[in-house]
Amino acid sequence: MQTMGMGTWHMAEDANRRADEIAALREGVDLGVKLIDTAELYGDGEVETLVGEAIRGLDRSELCIVSKVIPSHAGHKDMRASCEASLKRLGTDYLDLYLLHWPGAVPLEETVACMESLRADGLIRRWGVSNFDVDDMEALWRVPGGDSCVANQVLYHLESRGVEVSLKPWMRDHGVAMMAYSPLAQGGRLAYGLRDDPTLNAVAGRHDATPVQIMLAWAMRDGETIAIPKAGSPAHMRLNVEAAGITLTPDDLAALDRRFPAPARKPPLDWL
Ligand SMILES: NC(=O)c1ccc[n+]([C@@H]2O[C@H](COP(=O)([O-])OP(=O)(O)OC[C@H]3O[C@@H](n4cnc5c(N)ncnc54)[C@H](OP(=O)(O)O)[C@@H]3O)[C@@H](O)[C@H]2O)c1
Repeated sequence: MQTMGMGTWHMAEDANRRADEIAALREGVDLGVKLIDTAELYGDGEVETLVGEAIRGLDRSELCIVSKVIPSHAGHKDMRASCEASLKRLGTDYLDLYLLHWPGAVPLEETVACMESLRADGLIRRWGVSNFDVDDMEALWRVPGGDSCVANQVLYHLESRGVEVSLKPWMRDHGVAMMAYSPLAQGGRLAYGLRDDPTLNAVAGRHDATPVQIMLAWAMRDGETIAIPKAGSPAHMRLNVEAAGITLTPDDLAALDRRFPAPARKPPLDWL
């Protein structure tokens, strides 16, 4: 895995943007970003179809395709059919990584058994989870085979740093990769005015970069966290790829820490 991937949520919603969205993903691949994150949930499968179109004709072995199963499909009854439907829409015969989208009602034992069965049959290479807090990870580790989970995808951006208190250290200790979703705080929409923040702009000025690029460079600053920003145009994709090359200085990081401190105590997991 590498430190930046491409998100796809909210793609395929506007026919007028479709060509740009496909071009953005292809631009990303051309620039060396090989991980694409999607889900059966997005656009009720329409986003996987769009991703399938974007990757058609590319060297599949060079790509890392991640999709997710919704919790209500994560048991013996539905999971294989869900996975097969995702593969069909994506036009591929395996997923590099399959995630449980968030904790649900199906017992973890059953979900793990289904993931392992898909893996044994070659439909997926590896599996993981998303929106799992420390107690969820501990429960997963108590299940037979649960420790085969390789990744947890969680909300992480400058204004949502709660995972740093105990989830991120837990994952590091247990060899579980952290995938940071909404690393741009959804383009600054969620955190109103974030793009205009003076500290963020001062750091951006020092790097001849945009505030959004700094948010992204910050999310990937440890060289381990895999951030998956969504770019709906080749221009945004190029900015994001550039951001992956920005190294924040200790002074930048200290300024950002003062302005956007991590919480002192563990809050409940923040998620969308
Ligand atoms: N596991 C989960 O539960 C979960 C939840 C949420 C998200 N995700 C995944 O994480 C991905 C990323 O999260 P997200 O889509 O919520 O939000 P995000 O990546 O934080 O932000 C996306 C927004 O940022 C804008 N943007 C992208 N690059 C930009 C740039 N260089 N300059 C200015 N604006 C830029 C995009 O606009 P344009 O479209 O115009 O480029 C879009 O409005 C999702 O797409 C999805 O794959 C997973």
